[in-house]
Amino acid sequence: MIKPVKGFSKLTKEEKVSWVVSSFFNDNPNAESVIKRYWNDDNELQQLHDEFIENTISNYYLPFGIAPNFLINNKLFAIPMAIEESSVVAAASKAAKFWFDRGGFRAEVISTTKIGQVHFMFSGDAAKLDNFFSVVKSKLIADSKSITKNMEKRGGGITSIELKDKTAVLENYYQLHCSFETLDAMGANFINSCLEQFAKTFKTEAKMFDAFSEEEKNIEIVMSILSNYVPDCLVRAEVSCPVSELNEDKGVSPEEFADKFVRAVEIAQVEPYRAVTHNKGIMNGIDAVVLATGNDFRAVEAGVHAYAARNGSYSSLTQATVENGVFKFWIEIPLALGTVGGLTNLHPLVRLALEMLEKPSAKELMQIIAVAGLAQNFGALRSLTTTGIQKGHMKMHLMNILNQMGATAEEKLQIATYFEGKTVVHSDVVEKFQELRNK
Ligand code: MEV
Repeated sequence: MIKPVKGFSKLTKEEKVSWVVSSFFNDNPNAESVIKRYWNDDNELQQLHDEFIENTISNYYLPFGIAPNFLINNKLFAIPMAIEESSVVAAASKAAKFWFDRGGFRAEVISTTKIGQVHFMFSGDAAKLDNFFSVVKSKLIADSKSITKNMEKRGGGITSIELKDKTAVLENYYQLHCSFETLDAMGANFINSCLEQFAKTFKTEAKMFDAFSEEEKNIEIVMSILSNYVPDCLVRAEVSCPVSELNEDKGVSPEEFADKFVRAVEIAQVEPYRAVTHNKGIMNGIDAVVLATGNDFRAVEAGVHAYAARNGSYSSLTQATVENGVFKFWIEIPLALGTVGGLTNLHPLVRLALEMLEKPSAKELMQIIAVAGLAQNFGALRSLTTTGIQKGHMKMHLMNILNQMGATAEEKLQIATYFEGKTVVHSDVVEKFQELRNK
């Protein structure tokens, strides 16, 4: 068993690596070389990455790929994606091309409200608290002016503060439930700073509110924090075309394809086991672009899944219909994103990704990312309801299998050529590889 380490964060990077190698790898030089192989030769760039977090010992690479030919609101995009799963970029590109030929994607932002809350405990007369809130509300806003003035200049800021009585669900529990418009910033720091200022003012002013008893003056602030549940920061993306134009898959009529596709979505609407996988596929597309553009995929994931369960049962994020011979497929999701601040100006690849997208506003990025999710779901359902998912998956996974076996470039080429048009099965690849080696 290893011993606890004291003052680890104060060690130099070399010392941290040594500690890891001696504690976990018996001083095996291979471990050290794996860690260091991922260091960047450019010291300045490496230092930038080192300083993103505490205790950095190396970099963790993900492939950074491009899904081209996305026509969104009549504008063409090549979408950057950071993801390790073999088939995601290929599926996105294929769906983009499919819909490019059918008028592309349409997307619109429905709302951009973000939420933060000051959670507090108050034991006393709720009517007096109500009265106190109406007196103190303007001061909450006035005291946060130094935080909000720049955001206000650009057209954003605090849009509402409400007092909510939550005592029916937890004794003495109340909140300041606050709404914000943070424009092109994701806004976490802005919102949290405002909330902490509200909490401070609220607590201080309560002490001086004459109508309160001594006990009532003693409001306990529990915490002040933004919410990653953003059902009013919502974007919608859609594709549609006459059913007769869904004619790509040989062996399936467009009508059959459309009906089966709609049924697959309906199953995800009513069956949580399927809905989770259905939505996971959507998040394959969404997370990859969220990551490539330096946004917080954990925040997006948390908010999206909560939204998927908003009606009390976990359900599909997409919907599909066939009406009057027209196939329609759409997604509506909450996305709190930023295109300024955070990593967006700091990480060179993130900057490049945003430049490739022509420096989108947060609203434009919401549309692009919703489209990436919809495209991914289209690709998955199209495969699932026709050929099955493994055909495409295993085709893309072939290189991983060959790399695992240590195939040379020539062997990879020969085996990939052999499997063209065939379904890739792991054991068949091993067999083919051994056959080549034993020749
Ligand atoms: C795999 O990463 C994603 C899928 O399972 C999504 C789906 O089933 O819809 C293929």
